[in-house]
Amino acid sequence: MESDSFAIRKKILDLTREFYAVAHKPAAFKKGDKIRYAGRVFDDKELTSLVDASLDFWLTAGRYSLRFEKELAAYMGHKHALFVNSGSSANLVALSALTSPLFGQRRIKPGDEVITCATSFPTTVNPILQNGAVPVFLDAEVDTCNMDLTHLEEALTSKTKAVMVAHTLGNPFDLDKLSSFCKEHSLFLVEDCCDALGAKWDNKMVGTFGDVATLSFYPAHHITTGEGGAVLTSSALIKRAAESMRDWGRDCWCAPGEENTCSKRFGWKLGDLPFGYDHKYTYSHIGYNLKATDMQAAVGCEQLKKADAFVAARRKNHAYLLKALSSSFGSCFIMPRSLAKANPSPFGFVLTVRDDAGFTRDELTACLEKAGIATRLVFAGNITKQPAYKNKQFRVVGELTGSDTIMNNTFWFGVYPGLEKASLDFIIGTIGSFVKSRQKK
Ligand SMILES: Cc1ncc(COP(=O)(O)O)c(C=O)c1O
Repeated sequence: MESDSFAIRKKILDLTREFYAVAHKPAAFKKGDKIRYAGRVFDDKELTSLVDASLDFWLTAGRYSLRFEKELAAYMGHKHALFVNSGSSANLVALSALTSPLFGQRRIKPGDEVITCATSFPTTVNPILQNGAVPVFLDAEVDTCNMDLTHLEEALTSKTKAVMVAHTLGNPFDLDKLSSFCKEHSLFLVEDCCDALGAKWDNKMVGTFGDVATLSFYPAHHITTGEGGAVLTSSALIKRAAESMRDWGRDCWCAPGEENTCSKRFGWKLGDLPFGYDHKYTYSHIGYNLKATDMQAAVGCEQLKKADAFVAARRKNHAYLLKALSSSFGSCFIMPRSLAKANPSPFGFVLTVRDDAGFTRDELTACLEKAGIATRLVFAGNITKQPAYKNKQFRVVGELTGSDTIMNNTFWFGVYPGLEKASLDFIIGTIGSFVKSRQKK
């Protein structure tokens, strides 16, 4: 029976490989093809791994999830990785974990303040609000798109408990400054690395400088599991709180399908519950269920093996575009900048149209979109101007002029490993023709 199922599984996986070659093998770029800003890059390995997991029909977290978490933690240089169902969930779990009573006086309570950047992806900021804390917005630098640290000290009050900020589009922020500021004032540092897998600061992985880091595995990102994300930490306490937040708020830490790993499942006395109340049904946090499935993890295991190659391809594409665009069009654009100790793992290529360029950002993006080149804005721009945040409680320290410029003048396009040299040349050529047509007027 078992050998039958093994043989059939093998046949199915062999057929899956064949299917990949017929249905999914990427074709070379031809003029007229759409140039996406990002996209999943995969081969028969991801497809067979996914099918293999589906044949287990375990459905929730299982053998692949455990493996993915272990390998991801090792890749990132952390002790623990928790697989969740999105990068947004990872941010929610990470920040919510820091509200845990496990942290005593350090914990983030309603009304406490968390410093963040006004140019953000919304779900970097939302967990602060969702936990009843107050975002304190600092401006962004136009050329790095990262938080401007000029007014960092001014942002600090007795209520400040944490800094939660992203390495925008894979470009590391100043980790020396921000992590020493956090250490000096006993603040938690949450590094949103959703766009930054593989980026390094001083030769060390970003995400390992703060207390907790997050990743997204949405298909646009460096590696994908479809929907998916992860929380990374080397703190046993943060891991404990984050796992509880992810898994319904429960006190028990048994993996799905396991029980009694604490060896006293019916021997706890917690809260006002009677002695021996089943630990599996004892809740120490107001939690969620943000777990992902084994099928997603199965794809992640194969993608992770390719992470270094993906990051290298992104860096190569970015360098190629930077060389071509800055030598010819530096007078029209503010070019992307990274700090001396930063080795970005670019999510995209960012350009800011100068006010005196002779054209606007929107005119240029309209031209690129018409040519089939997908463009994106730097997320929420100045998030304080977004409708959802209008009547929310937040503080702004300094002026948000950089964020306004990013909102009005900045955009980005793809550098993902699926782009060939021909696509990059087409992007460069299209920008070049547009700029020349405007300069003639
Ligand atoms: C910086 C940043 N944080 C968080 C997220 C959310 O990730 P997800 O789409 O997986 O929820 C994104 C999404 O792209 C992001 O760019």
